[in-house]
Amino acid sequence: MTAAWTFPEFSPVGVDLAGAEAVARYDRNQGTDAERDNALLDRLGVGPGTRFVDLACGTGSLVVEAARRGADAHGVDVAEEMLAYTRRRAADAGVAVSLHHAGFLSYEHAGPTADVVTTRSALHQLPDFWKQAALLKIAGYLRPGGLLYVWDLMFSFPPAEYAEQVQRMIDELGRPEGAGFTMADFEAHVREEFSTYTWIIEGLIERAGFAIEGSAFPRTTHGEFVCRRR
Ligand SMILES: C[S@@+](CC[C@H](N)C(=O)[O-])C[C@H]1O[C@@H](n2cnc3c(N)ncnc32)[C@H](O)[C@@H]1O
Repeated sequence: MTAAWTFPEFSPVGVDLAGAEAVARYDRNQGTDAERDNALLDRLGVGPGTRFVDLACGTGSLVVEAARRGADAHGVDVAEEMLAYTRRRAADAGVAVSLHHAGFLSYEHAGPTADVVTTRSALHQLPDFWKQAALLKIAGYLRPGGLLYVWDLMFSFPPAEYAEQVQRMIDELGRPEGAGFTMADFEAHVREEFSTYTWIIEGLIERAGFAIEGSAFPRTTHGEFVCRRR
């Protein structure tokens, strides 16, 4: 039974991604880049037989590319519409993916431990206390030596600069409606979602039982961590 104090992860905060139209809009805005997905899968060593889990898989581009390589590919998401989109994408590609209607906190991994777990643009859905719980949960089903990859909107700027830095991100990345994520999308993200500082995420990752093997912050508002399960 789920405790009454558990975070309600099936009611995501922030930018509205519920409903088939919102999901299709998300997919258009996000853009599908098989080359980028495959470059990441190469870096993580995903190949035939890799037990691969993409948490918050969204419209499924990464998990479908993993399946094309012969990985035992699992996609997890709290939104049924996202899973439906991923299911269609997998069918169009002629590959099998295992899809799970669950979230960071509720996903129960069955079978052998995973080799690689990824999550892109989603850990910010959880407040920091629950990010820690999610990372501990991942550590429980990722084999020792296995890799965790995290990409997200996260802040590496000096905290005293937060106002200018956030405004600059919104001004530089916001696109007109129909041409990508809008300024209003980024405003809602910062106002309502739980993106946080890279140094907080580092501490959470390490305390969950991972060694950070690499990190990159291509903007002061976006970054990645590559982590190995100890
Ligand atoms: C911005 S999208 C990112 C999707 C995909 N990873 C990508 O890179 O395109 C965020 C996704 O997180 C999902 N989500 C929100 N809260 C979640 C949670 N607690 N556990 C798992 N997925 C969640 C949403 O349904 C949505 O598909």
